[in-house]
Amino acid sequence: MNEKRSSVHGEWSSGLIFILAATGSAVGLGNLWRFPYLVGENGGSAFVLLYLACILLVGMPIMIAEVTLGRKGRRSPINSLRLIARDEGVSQQWALVGWMGVVAGVLILSFYSVVGGWSLFYGFEALKGSFVGISSDEATGLFEGLVADGPTVLLWHTLFMVILFSIVAAGVKKGLQRAVTLLMPLLFFLLLGLVVYGMTTEGFGEAITFLATPDLSVIDGGVFLAALGQAFFTLSLGMGAIMVYGAYLPQQNSIPVSSGWIVGMDTLTALLAGLAIFPIVFSVGLEPGEGPGLVFVTLPIVFGEIPLGTLLGIVFFILLSVAAITSGMSLLEPAVAYLTESFGGSRVKSAATMAVLIWLVGAACGLSLNAWSDITLWPGKNIFDSLDHVASNILLPLGGLFVAFFVGWKIRTNTVAAELDTHNHHYLFLLWLWATRVIAPAAVIFIFLNATGLLALISG
Ligand code: TRP
Repeated sequence: MNEKRSSVHGEWSSGLIFILAATGSAVGLGNLWRFPYLVGENGGSAFVLLYLACILLVGMPIMIAEVTLGRKGRRSPINSLRLIARDEGVSQQWALVGWMGVVAGVLILSFYSVVGGWSLFYGFEALKGSFVGISSDEATGLFEGLVADGPTVLLWHTLFMVILFSIVAAGVKKGLQRAVTLLMPLLFFLLLGLVVYGMTTEGFGEAITFLATPDLSVIDGGVFLAALGQAFFTLSLGMGAIMVYGAYLPQQNSIPVSSGWIVGMDTLTALLAGLAIFPIVFSVGLEPGEGPGLVFVTLPIVFGEIPLGTLLGIVFFILLSVAAITSGMSLLEPAVAYLTESFGGSRVKSAATMAVLIWLVGAACGLSLNAWSDITLWPGKNIFDSLDHVASNILLPLGGLFVAFFVGWKIRTNTVAAELDTHNHHYLFLLWLWATRVIAPAAVIFIFLNATGLLALISG
């Protein structure tokens, strides 16, 4: 029998805190910035439909699998995977999946920090009263002016990284836990208010049509892949973030129930963001396919129009920055936990090492929108978009695929069942097990083949 390990980094004080922290990880720029602009770029409701299918069939099973691995291993993803593989008598090379996650985390956090910097900048603009009576052209100009201005982008990216570093360096209990408890519900209610405002605008009907009447003809391999990548991105899956948070989950709390709450709240937040933003898009005659500026162009227009708009704008962009920070913490945590374990060293040093590395890559992302816009890494994509594409659409689903395969096929079913504590829910356990063994991997492989055109080749 395996002994139960305990976490060397501390534990959440309760299961509820885990749910809050993991929801803080899941809910972030992925919901409020990335989701709406991907919906706009990929033709609206057909994308939403695929996204929801990926959440349910791929995201939910893999979320449970990741938390299970984390709590079983009680270490950073790299060491958890290594220890579990050793206990189960399978190749310790499975730890490579943890390494891949660290790489994905660095790539994602690099551009994430740039966008986090944009939200800090917008909070500051709100404070200056820049949104009062702003027209849609002016709002577009404000965003375009920001991204074209390399030094300003770098300044806010730096500020974002400094804030993030200070919190992560403080550790699980003092840092991570404190930041999430209060602010997440506040963001949620503000978003709800924006949706109610959206209902009063003339674009609301068009927005509902756009979001809820699927035009299946727009679906191609690329739309599929984008929906899958977004499902992983928004749930923080595929790179060990949820796994490392699971490592700090007290033994008595239910993994499936917690996962259900996290997935539910994250999905709800994304849909609310869509409902808040698209009515404005259609009311003021913007293009849904506007791209990464979508949330930053639309919301200032709202805050410029409504009573107390300046105040609400300040609060909203501060909360968006906080949401980005609670997500960024989880992108950093797998690597920081690993370094802390390896060098027996201080969290502060580990966090500083990672922060400097990510700041550098992030600076390249920031400059790739202006001074370095001619440089392409992935064909046709600048540095920023290349990192996003490679990490979100390739590395995360690949990481998820390996996790599903490892938990579904390599670990003894008894080990998994014991960690999930499923005595009274035998059928639900089997449902999850086969979703993890077959459905989730099959979906990821199908979407990969489809996106590379290999599926068309195979089927002739
Ligand atoms: N889920 C977060 C968001 O939607 C971003 C994030 C945090 C993330 N941790 C992650 C994405 C791990 C992928 C992997 O903003």
